[in-house]
Amino acid sequence: MTLTTSHAAPAAHDTLPAARPAPGDRTATSRHFLMCPPVHFDVVYAINPWMDVTVPVDTGHAVVQWQALKAAYEDRGHTVDVISPVPGLPDMVYAANGGVVVGGKALAARFTYPERQPEGAAYEAWLRESGPARGMVSLGQAAERNEGEGDLLWDGEVMLAGTGFRTTRAAHAEVADRLGVEVLTLELVDPRFYHLDTALTVLSTASGSTVPDGGTRAEIAYFPQAFTPASRAVLRERYPDAIEADEADAAVLGLNAVSDGRHVFLTHRATGMHAALRERGFEPVGIDLSELLKGGGSVKCCTLELRPVPAMQDDPTPAKEARA
Ligand code: ARG
Repeated sequence: MTLTTSHAAPAAHDTLPAARPAPGDRTATSRHFLMCPPVHFDVVYAINPWMDVTVPVDTGHAVVQWQALKAAYEDRGHTVDVISPVPGLPDMVYAANGGVVVGGKALAARFTYPERQPEGAAYEAWLRESGPARGMVSLGQAAERNEGEGDLLWDGEVMLAGTGFRTTRAAHAEVADRLGVEVLTLELVDPRFYHLDTALTVLSTASGSTVPDGGTRAEIAYFPQAFTPASRAVLRERYPDAIEADEADAAVLGLNAVSDGRHVFLTHRATGMHAALRERGFEPVGIDLSELLKGGGSVKCCTLELRPVPAMQDDPTPAKEARA
């Protein structure tokens, strides 16, 4: 497959806000991830357009590529927990789908397709057993059809929630209720981008509760054509300064990225995204997950972020409540 080379810098430079961080100004915060080694990875069924059961998979190569992603995280100070892969669950490597964890509350997934349904219980068991030592409590499996961080991306302030192919609107309501978060529903329309995390990535999370009060809005990148016109309008309004990725980057799953606020881990093939990220002061880290692309996933799919409750409650600083 050839890459489009038309990644000329956007002509909008002069109009960009002056306060954009310069390269080097971005600060990484250490993250806690859960990953699953692809020792049982294969393509033996097709539940998304990327999967072709006639194309052979090199499982050994998938493992080597996956190890390089894990090492890339660890080399930059992130913690990676590993869940035991279960034989007969070839897609379990896509840990993002296992659940969603915000504020120490872990809601495990309930998968759409029978082939993946046992993964929900496997991830729930891990979150229940390993959670308490890590500042998390398991809320069990979602009652509604919910594919975890595949469709639920936390921007620090709201949960961006995809629907259209997998996770349902009823699941969005359940997430709002059980995790106690605001949810923003976004509708996907292109089967290649069947999970929200294939079409949108959070680059930096919001801090503070409102922008006028001095907090900062999250920054995102997304592929507009993956969404309905109504959802595009919602995204443009909420994130006017977002990176809008092009077809060439989206088509190599360049939006399926993980950011720590400074480093952005994504496929090395998304060259336009790499340039756009650099221009905004992020440091792209190119990752080759070509084998796992055969299952329809890339960097983010292989990574579930755990957001435990901070261990220490002894910070004497009062919570920022500047209400007069
Ligand atoms: N074969 C898997 C599926 O179709 C791929 C999941 C990719 N994961 C993700 N977070 N997008 O369910």
